[in-house]
Amino acid sequence: MPIDASVLILNGPNLNMLGVREPAVYGSQTLDELEAACQERAEALGLVIDFRQSNSEGELVGWVQQARTANDGIIVNAGAYSHTSIALLDALTLAELPVIEVHLSNIFRRESFRHHSYVSTVAKGVICGLGAHGYLLALDAMASILDQV
Ligand code: DQA
Repeated sequence: MPIDASVLILNGPNLNMLGVREPAVYGSQTLDELEAACQERAEALGLVIDFRQSNSEGELVGWVQQARTANDGIIVNAGAYSHTSIALLDALTLAELPVIEVHLSNIFRRESFRHHSYVSTVAKGVICGLGAHGYLLALDAMASILDQV
């Protein structure tokens, strides 16, 4: 693994509302609490994280473009943009970095419009339905992927 390997953790629209947003679906943890948990796991794994959230598709695309040279891997929960955004898919493709897709909920147990994700087509792996724990598993997986490069 590169020394101080850096992982961008990207959160899409409405994930800033975690804690109050449909807790039965998304859990009661806030985004700040999720970030703190990721920070703790990242430190244990020897990873540096850059944890971000935006409701704007363009801002997310810009951050992924920057990640191409600034980060070693991307963990992404693109929220609803997972199901709609070819622009985000194109950015993730041009970044040429390992991508792990995370969803808090099990998108396959939900409405059919959530069953397809553009992000999945570029992701090395997808974790969904395990709530906030999925982010920690994604960090574990990213550490082992980056160990191999
Ligand atoms: C989500 C699932 C998406 O379908 C939804 O639009 C979200 C959150 C999840 O984490 O379960 O905003 O990505």
